[in-house]
Amino acid sequence: MMNNFQYAFKLKFNVCDIINDKWQRPFIQDLFFVKNYDNVTDWQNIVNEKFLDLCNKKLPIYRIMVFNKPRVWCSTDAHIDPGVPFALNVIFNDSNAKMQWLQPISTIPKPVSYTTANTPYQNYHDGELNLMHEECLQDDVWIVRTDVPHRIKIGDTARTCVSLRFTTQVKDWDQAYNLFRELDWI
Ligand SMILES: [Fe+2]
Repeated sequence: MMNNFQYAFKLKFNVCDIINDKWQRPFIQDLFFVKNYDNVTDWQNIVNEKFLDLCNKKLPIYRIMVFNKPRVWCSTDAHIDPGVPFALNVIFNDSNAKMQWLQPISTIPKPVSYTTANTPYQNYHDGELNLMHEECLQDDVWIVRTDVPHRIKIGDTARTCVSLRFTTQVKDWDQAYNLFRELDWI
């Protein structure tokens, strides 16, 4: 049984083991955006051939999301990704931003909303949550828990996160941890 208080695990990969050298890092653009990439042609631009091959064999990708936070941008809202217990995040240029995981004060579930890319999320405002855990995810590769409210708290640098989502039978964070142990990626 894993530690229930652990919300992120660093993987045995480095950023350069996963990301294509030629991919243009977007954090030089001082602009907030989230982009979804749902097809292999786009994935090939972002992720290198070796890692894409490994995923095809072990853990198929179904979506890559790119989050880009400009220097001065900060959000105090958090969200749950319903039905998505984990994400594999490759983080660039994150000198002091923190990922936080929070506990809803109320047990009443939040309604599900949809992003412009039609992905579901449940949004929480600052006063509806208590902080459970926070972690500095430096320029590295992590699996992070996404089925409890989470957010990125202000840093004064721009930050880019490439978030890989996979086709798996994994139902919860515990199973996600076990899968990555079996893969020997943690
Ligand atoms: Fe999320």
